[in-house]
Amino acid sequence: MMASNRISFPAALAATLAMSMAVAAPAFAKGPVPDPAVKDFQRVVDAAYAKYKDLKEGKNADYIPILTETPSDLFGVVIVAKDGKVYSAGDVDYVFSIQSVSKPFTAALVMSEQGPEVLREKIGVEPTGMAFNSKLALAVYEDSVNPLVNAGAIAAVSLVQATSEQERWNKVQQNLSDFAGRPLTVLEKVYESEYTTAFGNRGIANLLYNWGRLYSEPEEALRVYTRECSVGVSAKDLGVMGATLANGGVNPLTRKQVMPAGHVPELLAVMATAGFYDESGVWMFKAGLPAKTGVGGGIVAVVPGRFAIAAFSPRLNEAGNSVRSMKAIQDIAAELGVGVFGPNPD
Ligand code: DON
Repeated sequence: MMASNRISFPAALAATLAMSMAVAAPAFAKGPVPDPAVKDFQRVVDAAYAKYKDLKEGKNADYIPILTETPSDLFGVVIVAKDGKVYSAGDVDYVFSIQSVSKPFTAALVMSEQGPEVLREKIGVEPTGMAFNSKLALAVYEDSVNPLVNAGAIAAVSLVQATSEQERWNKVQQNLSDFAGRPLTVLEKVYESEYTTAFGNRGIANLLYNWGRLYSEPEEALRVYTRECSVGVSAKDLGVMGATLANGGVNPLTRKQVMPAGHVPELLAVMATAGFYDESGVWMFKAGLPAKTGVGGGIVAVVPGRFAIAAFSPRLNEAGNSVRSMKAIQDIAAELGVGVFGPNPD
């Protein structure tokens, strides 16, 4: 009698499995399970927008002359979920230059083509604690530092496998477009303004070449790098690009696998340690999220495996990071309790 009432271990396992599959089946049938925080997405985006809308702190970048012409009051905040749904407030469709926010995505392309070890060995992944355009960092480190500072990003475009400058550029542009889920184009006036004043970056490219740390002709690398920085994006585009990283490298709009899922953690690690240059420590302390910033005013932060938070506001602080974008994303991360090290109440 006893024996007949007992369920053997494999039978119990099968029963448990069957029950869990019965529960999971509708989720498979209906697509990805919504993020548990989704009910708060629009509320926190609206709150951050309202709180910082009138903040005037900081000023537009001026070392690229045309960036002074971007209306400083523009401000947009957006969350893009893993299913591609958009929660936004403010100027999230205004197109501005992506600048350094392009850098992690080209680093992803280098990893896709040649593997993460090539990125680590030929560029480096150490944070410097120095400014994005530091020449001192080049003398201190024996490589081009990391792919998120100017030197490492110029080296990254030089590593993209191509037999001509046109092919190199086409690959970089196509890759950024794949992350955004739509064709992205260069803002030619921004390109002209930056390329005609790129004396510092030209110096960096030439130094790297002289030291055997650049893998194409220096002026070609400089031109392709400057073009990638001049690509026009909206805050919404940045959100989709970040959501692609949150989604294991699959663009949530096009469903295209843009980079191998296995490289995403390595890329996010570099974004966490160097995404804000000499302000990376403060950023991680406050927001606890891998992110990337650009002097055009854009920032994208990734909640790994879940969603992306992006913002745009042209006024920058001394480190070249957008004041309102930083504050908005920090607030949202705290409100939703999504910092990677645990919820941060501040
Ligand atoms: O090379 C430069 O200086 C610019 N194209 C990009 C710098 C940048 O966006 C720094 N980020 N905050």
